[in-house]
Amino acid sequence: MTGAICGTGACVPARILDNNEIAKFVDTSDQWIQERTGVIRRRIAVEESTASMAAEAGRQALKEAGIRPEEIEMILAATATPDHIFPCAACEIQERLQAVNAVCFDLNAACSGFLFAYQTAQAYIAAGMYKTILVVGSECLSRIVNWEDRGTCILFGDGSGAVVLKAEEGRNWISAAHSDGKGGPALLCTGPNAAKAGKEGNLPGQSVDWGGSAEMEISMDGKAVFQFAVRKVPEVIHEVLDSNGLTAEDIDWFILHQANKRIVESVAKRLKTDISRFPMNLQEYGNTSSASIPILLNEMNRRGLLKKGQKIVMAGFGAGLSWGAAVLEWGI
Ligand code: UT7
Repeated sequence: MTGAICGTGACVPARILDNNEIAKFVDTSDQWIQERTGVIRRRIAVEESTASMAAEAGRQALKEAGIRPEEIEMILAATATPDHIFPCAACEIQERLQAVNAVCFDLNAACSGFLFAYQTAQAYIAAGMYKTILVVGSECLSRIVNWEDRGTCILFGDGSGAVVLKAEEGRNWISAAHSDGKGGPALLCTGPNAAKAGKEGNLPGQSVDWGGSAEMEISMDGKAVFQFAVRKVPEVIHEVLDSNGLTAEDIDWFILHQANKRIVESVAKRLKTDISRFPMNLQEYGNTSSASIPILLNEMNRRGLLKKGQKIVMAGFGAGLSWGAAVLEWGI
């Protein structure tokens, strides 16, 4: 059994924040941001939350798939920015959708989150445990961005994307995923728990030096992450192509995590593949981490660009460090 995507959905916040507005509070310019990243504007959650956007994206995906909420057996939410530490975002999505029969949990693999959640869902389906799974990637990164750091605040945006997977007879494509904890400091979000770690103790009455900052905040060595991405993404794409007996020529679309236009262009070049097969929407949404791949997939689906039988490679990469790729055949 394999999981076929039979519905997609996406939801982004209403509030648009363009480069010129960012240039009012940090020392940057629209020209610099566009040249170095490709981003023009991004969406920022005001009324929306990680779970509310995910539920809307899920609703659209279920509608297209013709599946009732109670038929979903599992909800897997990829997010690094859940609304609460617990319960998990997936449980809140379940409640909002009334998907009463689903088992729900979150998966945090930062910008690789959707790719890893998709692989996890495929593994459950291949094992015969579940037949109908909702996979979402949803983020409110604006909550953890340091809005005084021009090296990072220009990159990120909020949003959510979802797919419904349904078990059917078909080929089980081999996918790949990797992690390298040594690279962790290159892309980090600290928080209150990190500040506590390694101190005397946290029980009442004990004197605890929290140290650090209680704020959650992204810090990044942009150059290191850039170099990691342009080296590892082509490598893992080659890995999945080889494992499945395919070449880059067999692939109609390469749907990459939308981090930076220059990363996507560099990957296309290293794969000796025309950039036209690497769709991008980062100019509109910035880097939405685990949401970027399903938002782009949904956009292409809605625009009628995905044809039955086309082969797609999805590739994610980010904090961890982590990276991975998966092959799929479009079936809607
Ligand atoms: O999901 C994965 C998430 N992360 C990524 O994908 C990040 C990957 N890295 C990148 O996208 C790029 O490294 C950045 C876009 C973050 C930075 O671009 P860069 O070409 O690597 O710039 P840089 O960090 O080497 O900085 C070049 C210059 C520096 O000035 P000096 O030292 O040459 O005087 C920076 O201070 O640009 C300066 N700079 C800026 N200038 C205007 C850095 N950020 C900005 C800014 N506006 N926003």
